[in-house]
Amino acid sequence: MGWDGAPGDILAKHKIAILPGDGVGVEVIEAAMLVLEEIALDAEYIYGDIGWEFWRKEGNPLPDRTIEMLKETDAALFGAITSKPKKEAVNELAPELRDKGLQYFSPIVRLRQEFELYANVRPAKAYKGNPLNYRDDINITVFRENTEGLYAGVEFRPVDAELKKALGRHPKFARFMDVPDDELAISMRIFTKKGCERIIKAAFEHARKFKARNLTVVEKPNVIRETSGMFVETAREMHSEYPEIELWETNIDAQAMWLVKNPEIYDVLVTSNMFGDIISDLASQLTGGLGFATSGNIGENYAVFEPVHGSAPKYAGQYKVNPIATIRATRMLLDYIGEHEKAEKLERAIEIVVEEGKVKTYDMGGDAGTLDMAREIAKKYSEQ
Ligand code: NAI
Ligand code: MG
Repeated sequence: MGWDGAPGDILAKHKIAILPGDGVGVEVIEAAMLVLEEIALDAEYIYGDIGWEFWRKEGNPLPDRTIEMLKETDAALFGAITSKPKKEAVNELAPELRDKGLQYFSPIVRLRQEFELYANVRPAKAYKGNPLNYRDDINITVFRENTEGLYAGVEFRPVDAELKKALGRHPKFARFMDVPDDELAISMRIFTKKGCERIIKAAFEHARKFKARNLTVVEKPNVIRETSGMFVETAREMHSEYPEIELWETNIDAQAMWLVKNPEIYDVLVTSNMFGDIISDLASQLTGGLGFATSGNIGENYAVFEPVHGSAPKYAGQYKVNPIATIRATRMLLDYIGEHEKAEKLERAIEIVVEEGKVKTYDMGGDAGTLDMAREIAKKYSEQ
């Protein structure tokens, strides 16, 4: 980072993008900023435009200027956005934009692609004393591949003759050859070796860093032989570099049962895009639900941290939702930018507030507001 300020200016150590978005996204980000203020991080915060308002006014929910701004920062903290189905989206565009054939595209998906944020990290931890815990001894981190697999977006409907011919090279496609073009739909599950390697490596590295006992690769190689097969094979190959960590292999369906039966034995799970989407939601619900569920989208050079929840229109403007999910995202961001001590201290502050149980938002059975919760966490941060 070069010196480009006016004489007397002091450059902050970190540059962090703040993307509030829509609805309660704005409120939980306000809460997180209140905590960051208390932490007194040496950082410059740069606010960016994202969300429904920018779709309506500009025909782009993630304007290019926001992308350019993000490139100048170390990482981003993101609240939540509103998105709506195709037809509604077009109807809500400003009149002068309506006939331009604009298509709504998820800004989160675009961020993941633009910055190659291949690892979706979802910690599911039962905070002691949280009335929403399924059990108190759960502490699982799910690593979900974020850029390929079944969500790569390579889909066909109808399936034309040429494509059928190509697919006909596979003997098992024979029984679909005579299905009419427009009665056939195909969504492709695409894995690359590089994609498998980088997510599994990220999971192993995390397991090592946090002294995890085990890493479970969750797939279905007995049925989805090629993609799941390559994923599991890659985990086995890589395991020799991490001999201190036990490698377990499970099938996605069985894993769903085991997460309910004995969730306490699992430390780190790693899986592909769609399986990770599903299993991480299950793990979140065991440990507090959407008020607690947090995530990081992490790539080689950039990362975006966000609560799992959306803009919750039902609660927008009420300062009622739980900001803990976003404050946990802030904690992950601190770790990512190397502020480990502050990250640990913030984690401890959340633990204390939940365990004391004096300040609880509605989802936890209390009546504290979004900012009350943030203030309490900020207070416990400073008291340590
Ligand atoms: P949502 O996650 O916004 O809210 C669903 C319900 O979960 C809420 O009504 C509330 O009961 C509960 N909830 C959410 N956040 C909470 C919090 N912090 N504390 C306590 N309870 C909380 O999902 P919904 O209603 O399906 O979607 C609303 C909008 O958000 C849609 O436009 C959707 O497309 C968008 N969305 C955006 C996401 C994102 O920005 N990453 C993720 C999910 C949905
Ligand atoms: Mg979100």
